[in-house]
Amino acid sequence: MMDLNNRVAIVTGSGSQRGIGREIAGTLSSLGASVVIADMFQEGVDSVVKEIQDAGGKALGLVLDVTSEASVDQLVSKTLAEFGRIDILVNNAGISQKVTVEDMTLDDMKRIFNVNMFGLFLISKAVLKPMKEQGYGRIISLSSVSGKRGGGVFGGAHYSASKAAVLGFSKNLAREVAKDGITVNCVAPGLVNTDIWKSMPEEIAKTVIDSIPMGRPGETKEIASTIAFLASEEASYITGEDIDINGGSHMD
Ligand SMILES: NC(=O)c1ccc[n+]([C@@H]2O[C@H](COP(=O)([O-])OP(=O)(O)OC[C@H]3O[C@@H](n4cnc5c(N)ncnc54)[C@H](O)[C@@H]3O)[C@@H](O)[C@H]2O)c1
Repeated sequence: MMDLNNRVAIVTGSGSQRGIGREIAGTLSSLGASVVIADMFQEGVDSVVKEIQDAGGKALGLVLDVTSEASVDQLVSKTLAEFGRIDILVNNAGISQKVTVEDMTLDDMKRIFNVNMFGLFLISKAVLKPMKEQGYGRIISLSSVSGKRGGGVFGGAHYSASKAAVLGFSKNLAREVAKDGITVNCVAPGLVNTDIWKSMPEEIAKTVIDSIPMGRPGETKEIASTIAFLASEEASYITGEDIDINGGSHMD
């Protein structure tokens, strides 16, 4: 049975009302972890913190911009001041854009990489010191099926490239810190039932569903439960791995 009591988890991008991050934070909290809800907007952060506290969990809300080194440093120092340790980092914050390479600008490319890869780098680097001092850590990053076989419906090529970069970065980091008690893994979801899905035209939605062997999008709970496993003691010998969560739509 997974038990995250006495563990402290930071979940980036967890202030989105129907997003995957909120579900991850709720799941880690339900297993006993103290969670830091970190996102761009105070209102979203406050509402998820309240939800977790109302359910009896421990949560701290912090406004974060993963692209800012100062903001990331503040997140780490405030988390340590409040909870004294950082055991789990879930790199969930991410952005995408629907644009073809032909219409894409260099600024589009930089904006996507700035959040999805450079921001993920800044925060992963910032938690290494406390994790190394503890001799324990779990870093789990959200890649995507688009990073493995290209996107199409949602992601532009810049999104796919950034999510592929997350996989390479994580495998390299996993090797660097393997002897420090820190594991580094990724999950690669396919289409997940969030607001993006709801806003998709019916015809496109049908085409996408038809391409998924299980015939449905994933639920946020199905992403969160896999992440909870990777964050637990039970996953102690798994590092540098990426787990597909996609209903069979892509198999490595
Ligand atoms: N929804 C899907 O189908 C799907 C599939 C595969 C992978 N993913 C990945 O899962 C993660 C969550 O996706 P989601 O669908 O829940 O999206 P979402 O938009 O609901 O949540 C993303 C969150 O990241 C936050 N964020 C954006 N830029 C930030 C920054 N600079 N600093 C801090 N926070 C920032 C946003 O405010 C938002 O709350 C993303 O990394 C996404 O790429 C999603």
